[in-house]
Amino acid sequence: MIPFVDLVAQYRSIAAEVDAAFHEVTASAEYILGARVQRFEQEFAQFVSAEHAVGVGSGLDALRLGLLALGVGAGDEVIVPANTYIATALAVSEIGADVVLVDCEADTPNIDPVATEAALTPRTRAFLPVHLTGLAVDLQPFLDLAARAGIEIVEDAAQAHGARWNGRPCGSIGTIGCFSFYPGKNLGAYGDAGLTTTNDADLAERLRRLRNYGERRKYEHTVKGVNSRLDGLQAAFLSVKLPHLHAWNTARVRHAQMYASELDGVGDIVLPRITDDGTHVYHLFTIRTANRDALRDSLTERGIQTGIHYPIPIHLQEAYADLGLGVGAFPNAEALARETISLPMFPELTAAQIDTVVGAIREFFESGRRR
Ligand SMILES: Cc1ncc(COP(=O)(O)O)c(C=O)c1O
Repeated sequence: MIPFVDLVAQYRSIAAEVDAAFHEVTASAEYILGARVQRFEQEFAQFVSAEHAVGVGSGLDALRLGLLALGVGAGDEVIVPANTYIATALAVSEIGADVVLVDCEADTPNIDPVATEAALTPRTRAFLPVHLTGLAVDLQPFLDLAARAGIEIVEDAAQAHGARWNGRPCGSIGTIGCFSFYPGKNLGAYGDAGLTTTNDADLAERLRRLRNYGERRKYEHTVKGVNSRLDGLQAAFLSVKLPHLHAWNTARVRHAQMYASELDGVGDIVLPRITDDGTHVYHLFTIRTANRDALRDSLTERGIQTGIHYPIPIHLQEAYADLGLGVGAFPNAEALARETISLPMFPELTAAQIDTVVGAIREFFESGRRR
């Protein structure tokens, strides 16, 4: 069996460090916020070259609290790509603002700047570009539009820890950057966790209060906040893992290069496009084929796990039926949902496992099983 992601293999490679961190936290009983959270926030801020980092309970909360801290709310519109994990859209809905969906580019899974400009209205308060699959969005058109129209950029970097655009770390370019440490992410916790980054000290202070019941000092509440705090154990685990991230991302890039060179020209496969000014940290290695479902079935039969990111674009989700957008609204996102398949990708993947996956894909196309 070749798993899609192997979190046990990763834990084994750092078990002694992780176990020591667990014992340190339990010995200090500092479970909620505290010194380890502060330490990880500083380390992560430095990692993404941001001045402030505020740890929260999840990637969804990073987005939700980020928008709240900016004062976005009822009556405002936020532009979100139609193909993303639903959290990006839910963050906007949860704070009472309106989700305005736009299509992705034809040849990347990332938000289309031309469609974004066309969707602007006087009510647009923020753009939510998502560095999907780990590929940095070309942010220049968004920065230009934002500057011209007074709009905030909130980067969804949940899949892009360590990716760069024009040499700058993703998550440090917009007004706020949002990260998820869901266990399978490039930097993953051992439970739910997330974080926001910003260079604005006032915004950072607002985020700190919002995540902790709106508290300024103990039992003094200045705003109606929530309980969404990065906890001490997760912060300690993340501090152990962060120094390994560069090597893990490098391994992912190496695996991607191997997949790409071995799958080039096989069947009707379209490989992920590399952009000129953005790097790719391959949270996901996705290929496209008109034979996606049959290929996936064939790989499953051979014990090769794959994923689909994502099978249903936001506008076709039942939860967003109220948008009144049917099939045909976003052709690029819909084609991607039909054709995309994500192959096994994790740092500990071996060359032999990649060969097995590639061999199975070649055989599928050579055997004529495709429809
Ligand atoms: C693009 C994107 N945005 C937001 C999220 C939400 O993160 P979390 O699951 O930590 O809430 C995820 C991942 O789950 C994601 O992939």
